[in-house]
Amino acid sequence: MTAARIAVIAGDGIGLEVMPAGIRAVDAVAVVHGIALDWHELDWGSDYYRAHGRMLPVDGLDVLAEHDAIFLGAVGVPEIPDVETLWGLLIPIRRAFEQYINLRPVKTLPGVTNRVRTDDVIDLMIVRENNEGEYSEIGGRAYRGLPEEAAFQENVFTRKGIARAARFAGELAAARSGKVTSATKSNGIVHTMPFWDEVVRETLADYPTVELRSELIDALAASLVLHPERYDVIVASNLFGDILSDLAGAVTGSIGSAPSANLNPERKHPSMFEPVHGSAPDIAGQGIANPIGQIWSGAMMLDSLGRRPAADHLVAAFELALADGVRTRDLGGTASTEEFASAVVARVDALADTFAGAAV
Ligand code: NAD
Ligand code: IPM
Ligand code: MN
Repeated sequence: MTAARIAVIAGDGIGLEVMPAGIRAVDAVAVVHGIALDWHELDWGSDYYRAHGRMLPVDGLDVLAEHDAIFLGAVGVPEIPDVETLWGLLIPIRRAFEQYINLRPVKTLPGVTNRVRTDDVIDLMIVRENNEGEYSEIGGRAYRGLPEEAAFQENVFTRKGIARAARFAGELAAARSGKVTSATKSNGIVHTMPFWDEVVRETLADYPTVELRSELIDALAASLVLHPERYDVIVASNLFGDILSDLAGAVTGSIGSAPSANLNPERKHPSMFEPVHGSAPDIAGQGIANPIGQIWSGAMMLDSLGRRPAADHLVAAFELALADGVRTRDLGGTASTEEFASAVVARVDALADTFAGAAV
């Protein structure tokens, strides 16, 4: 069997702490399911930038293209402008490999109290358009340094870009509850959004079993805090999806638990799996970061490599660790990053008969 080649970019800050936890957890489940993984660790990040003046080597994207998947921690440090670190690594990867869907599951976790007054179970998927929209490269800072300073950046929404995000949401909803909520701002102010609405509506007309609701982003954000259990699949532009995913992650307990998959659904290029959170300079170096976002992203990676039973097994293992009361500080516990990872590895083994019976 050929091993799946995984490019690993731990990056900066807590990325360097949650990545070993993620690799340990994925390796543990891979062994049980007989999955061969070839990890290829790359030291790209802010230290690399300090040494070389760039975030990744000149042929960095070619190196990544040789892999079946990319496993990323987080990048960004307070001393280097984010425009260098993020436009130098994260955004080019998402674009070069046409990872136009950023899929971000959000759900209630065992023993973790939702931050809202609801006993209802939260189980939703954010489908974030990941290649265009507000994150465009058109515009600049032409008027910096002049007495009347200004900055401009065009929003770029294409029919193709909106339609493929809507189609992904439609497929997903058809296999779930049949409900899609589209995040919009079409009340006459943001001129790109009526176009977004039109293309989403037209695309979802191909999914007669799917019910589409459009909600204005401001009201949707409030409603997601107050009634998160009402949502199933949310489709959103790049910036709206970014904001809603931190919000929804926090509502279920902590953004540290939230995973994401930057997908190239056609599988022409490698997809990238990374937690929703950043490098968290405020807690970096203390060994206390919650590694669930990284571990769960690892499960999404296994799923995308065609290893669904192993992915389900890994999710069940971290859920069992939580149910047993093992939690990091952001979730009200005392476990360190490493202790949580060890608890997950132990539960991978404990659940092996349940999940791997058919696989080995
Ligand atoms: P952040 O997500 O790093 O942190 C926000 C807050 O959440 C902090 O208080 C942090 O301690 C907490 N937090 C985050 N992850 C946690 C975890 N796993 N366990 C426990 N607590 C956790 O956001 P920020 O502080 O706004 O950004 C820091 C840097 O990270 C910036 O440079 C930013 O641009 C970058 N960033 C990178 C990525 C990425 O690489 N994909 C994503 C988001 C932010
Ligand atoms: C995320 C991050 C990135 C984004 C930043 C760091 C550019 O916040 O992955 O959610 O906005 O996409
Ligand atoms: Mn974000």
